[in-house]
Amino acid sequence: MSRAPYVGLHVATGARRATAADIVASVQREISAGALPAGSRLPPVRALEKQLGLSKNTAQAAYDELVARGLVEAREREGVFVMAASRMEPPQPIVHVPLPRLVPPPLSRSDLPGRGTIALSTVFIDPELLPTERIADCARSVLREKMPAQYEAQGYRPLREAIAKRLQARGLDVEADEVVITTGSQQSLDIVARSLAVKRVACESPVYAYAKLLFESLGNELVGLHLDPFGGIDLDLWDRTLATKPSLAYLIPSFHNPTGYSYSSGELRGVLELCQKHGVAILEDDWGSDMMSDGEYRPMLRMLGGKNVLYVNSFTKKLLPSLRIGFVAASPELVPTLVAMKRLSTLGNAWLTEAVVAEFLERGYYDTHLQALQRALDTRYAACLAALDELMPEGVKWTRPGGGPTLWLELPRSIDLPALEAHLARRGVNVSNASAAFLGPAHLHGFRIAYAFLSETEMRTALTIVADALRALSR
Ligand SMILES: Cc1ncc(COP(=O)(O)O)c(C=O)c1O
Repeated sequence: MSRAPYVGLHVATGARRATAADIVASVQREISAGALPAGSRLPPVRALEKQLGLSKNTAQAAYDELVARGLVEAREREGVFVMAASRMEPPQPIVHVPLPRLVPPPLSRSDLPGRGTIALSTVFIDPELLPTERIADCARSVLREKMPAQYEAQGYRPLREAIAKRLQARGLDVEADEVVITTGSQQSLDIVARSLAVKRVACESPVYAYAKLLFESLGNELVGLHLDPFGGIDLDLWDRTLATKPSLAYLIPSFHNPTGYSYSSGELRGVLELCQKHGVAILEDDWGSDMMSDGEYRPMLRMLGGKNVLYVNSFTKKLLPSLRIGFVAASPELVPTLVAMKRLSTLGNAWLTEAVVAEFLERGYYDTHLQALQRALDTRYAACLAALDELMPEGVKWTRPGGGPTLWLELPRSIDLPALEAHLARRGVNVSNASAAFLGPAHLHGFRIAYAFLSETEMRTALTIVADALRALSR
């Protein structure tokens, strides 16, 4: 039987000897460009070996990979042939079914403003300060192990153990069995809110907007706990609000988002007592701890109020946002329901990222990373405060959180915020509109300042632009 003639293959590698990956990429490129039509016969392994000066194993590995990708087929004693593209023309639908009716998007904005824009209000940390190389090392080492077939709905056990150990070191009585790993702390808020028998939640106003919108979208009635970051908490007012018997108070007692406020010791105690008095459970979101030095020494509600306080934290900001690893620590009797709710929404999360973070913690990288991060953020924070002192006009004030990634800049009421936002946008500075953070009318008038994200130079540039805009708009 005579064999079909084979096509010539051009593998571009410059002076370097071709690898299996080069051959795969070239064949793939030529197929998509239409240069290798279906049925074309690729050169036999021997011919490729000779042409490119490679080992037989390399050529064979490339062909095996092309077969695995479904691009070519190996026919016994005939050779290796390009397969027909599997794309089918979609048939015309026979009936046009209606679209489902959806609610309007609760808040549509992108995660980060575009390139070339200074993100003055973002809650993220500058990616330059994040340990991407070491995370990649951990990922490579994890990938050398065999992927387990099964996932754990509660989260990868070694990671839960490492988290419990870290929390114990911070003075919290937490066991690995009480930790549920989630896709960011956002999913922790989600599974807790879904699990509530009574759909009534109290939160600070203003509050982290995506928590408010999440609770609302799950059918919870929200009651606002008025927070004035310049005056502190009015416990009598909170007493009256909590007397309306929400089932849960969602609280951010340290480096509050968006105001940067931290409860005083008296307020921590007062809030715990009010919750006890009115039978209100607590969900504590400790999102901003560990970012600046000494931040981890602040007492937490979970520390003072014991195991009944649900405690949420996350590695996303401090380690790498794209890993999306957060967790909730809960009293043992709540864990089965929380895990069941997580199972309903995701069945379980990806083992891989959980294993990478576990490896990162196991190697002790997290502590060295935090030390370097805290030093860098201490410096940026001090520079931000100095620039504000120097540049801001009369009538502007700001919080001094000393932790977390952002502070609140409060402007005179005479400044028209939408006009200011537009003015700043034209000068390449993006500030986020905080109106979605309030329950009811806004009692603050300003926006967040992101000292964890911007370099000192960018911060100075942005604050100079803000100060100029404030002077221009108050004329
Ligand atoms: C206060 C607060 N809690 C929770 C989250 C959710 O973060 P993640 O899901 O990335 O852990 C954020 C995000 O910005 C936040 O600001």
